[in-house]
Amino acid sequence: MVRITPASLAFLLSLLPAYGLSEDIKPSESLVGCNEVSCPKENTYDRCTVDDKTFLGIGLARIPNVPSALDGLSLIKGVNVSQRDRGARQFNSAYYLGTPPEIDVKDLSGCVVIFNDPPEKQFDGPVKTGKDKNVTDVQAARGTCPDVVEQKCIDTLTARARSLINATSNGSVCAALERELKQNTFEGCGDLGGKGKGLGNFTVTSFGDISTVKNSTDCWPIKPKSDDLALVTENIAMGNSTATSMYQEAWKITPVLTVFVGDNNNSLVDKTSAQMTCLKVVTEDNPDEEENGSKNSASMLSTSPYVAGMAILITAVWAARAL
Ligand SMILES: *[C@@H]1O[C@H](CO)[C@@H](O)[C@H](O)[C@H]1NC(C)=O
Ligand SMILES: *[C@@H]1O[C@H](CO)[C@@H](O)[C@H](O)[C@H]1NC(C)=O
Ligand SMILES: *[C@@H]1O[C@H](CO)[C@@H](O)[C@H](O)[C@H]1NC(C)=O
Ligand SMILES: *[C@@H]1O[C@H](CO)[C@@H](O)[C@H](O)[C@H]1NC(C)=O
Ligand SMILES: *[C@@H]1O[C@H](CO)[C@@H](O)[C@H](O)[C@H]1NC(C)=O
Ligand SMILES: *[C@@H]1O[C@H](CO)[C@@H](O)[C@H](O)[C@H]1NC(C)=O
Ligand SMILES: *[C@@H]1O[C@H](CO)[C@@H](O)[C@H](O)[C@H]1NC(C)=O
Ligand SMILES: *[C@@H]1O[C@H](CO)[C@@H](O)[C@H](O)[C@H]1NC(C)=O
Ligand SMILES: *[C@@H]1O[C@H](CO)[C@@H](O)[C@H](O)[C@H]1NC(C)=O
Repeated sequence: MVRITPASLAFLLSLLPAYGLSEDIKPSESLVGCNEVSCPKENTYDRCTVDDKTFLGIGLARIPNVPSALDGLSLIKGVNVSQRDRGARQFNSAYYLGTPPEIDVKDLSGCVVIFNDPPEKQFDGPVKTGKDKNVTDVQAARGTCPDVVEQKCIDTLTARARSLINATSNGSVCAALERELKQNTFEGCGDLGGKGKGLGNFTVTSFGDISTVKNSTDCWPIKPKSDDLALVTENIAMGNSTATSMYQEAWKITPVLTVFVGDNNNSLVDKTSAQMTCLKVVTEDNPDEEENGSKNSASMLSTSPYVAGMAILITAVWAARAL
């Protein structure tokens, strides 16, 4: 179990106001995790089951710079891990669109591009104090796209998407966008999918193909709670059983390009717009509950083997980590 020293605890607590425990998610704290959207906890770990998918944590961000008719749209990422043969681990990510009640997903047209390979750069805070060195708390790390993606890249991609879609008259705008992204290089985007890897691997989904999610579990990872969720897409990445791999995959940053097509007949938006949102699972220790963690774990193990399995994976990571 993690040892939280009084000094580091004080340091962590001092970070809290900046990361907002307030009721509403403010633009300045645009990436939030389970704590802010009140997921249930499994022992000390975040646990969020959406429909039939259970995640070890989630990350939620409002989509920035949307036309006012689309205000309040969010993107959510959830991740879980499954054990595979010979120490291999499979990291499963699911992406959701969150919509306020007044916006019907069916009225949206456009595309969502998920960049599956993380950018070269990382978010650099919050920092955890350690014995020998202070390190970024990778699990709690958060920020916005301009922190990790060159502004030039954001501008180039969004501008290209807007003008391309403007010029595409037939229905398959997302296919056209995918072709465009595959065939070209984009200024400033050299490290978007990893150092020198350009855009890396990406998945393009049309708003026409996303499906609303049943609100049938005790976790509805969005705020306000009256917002709806729709599943955009899922992605699988393979890793190994090292802590490094766990950190790299489960808490990786995922840039997302959204394009909302406007036409004269569309009641929601009259102009096409494009945005970049950066998602990442954000998890934080709960120092209060940590104290009693070992006592509670036994009862937890028996009720939910799968999630307990994830908890064990995360514990192993913590144990492997020299603080
Ligand atoms: C893990 O997440 C994936 C989403 O990528 C989902 O399809 C799968 O059902 C989840 N597994 C469990 C056990 O919830
Ligand atoms: C870690 O950060 C704390 C508080 O900011 C500081 O007092 C300490 O000297 C730092 N330790 C190292 C090893 O940099
Ligand atoms: C889209 O097309 C309209 C009309 O053809 C034009 O006025 C507008 O500037 C174009 N927008 C972009 C981003 O190319
Ligand atoms: C329409 O879409 C097809 C295939 O998606 C593409 O080959 C064609 O160039 C497009 N036509 C126009 C006018 O954009
Ligand atoms: C991304 O990876 C998948 C599977 O690994 C592959 O099928 C797909 O073509 C790749 N997409 C791009 C844009 O490279
Ligand atoms: C989803 O369920 C929660 C309670 O579990 C409720 O507070 C919320 O209003 C529901 N939201 C929607 C959109 O149904
Ligand atoms: C495990 O994954 C990490 C991170 O991707 C990599 O650096 C390391 O070489 C891998 N180790 C093994 C034994 O495959
Ligand atoms: C808009 O609606 C009119 C009449 O309903 C239709 O003739 C026209 O093709 C539509 N335009 C577009 C861009 O969907
Ligand atoms: C830990 O357990 C003790 C004894 O069961 C209890 O008094 C205390 O309130 C618990 N602390 C927390 C943070 O749950």
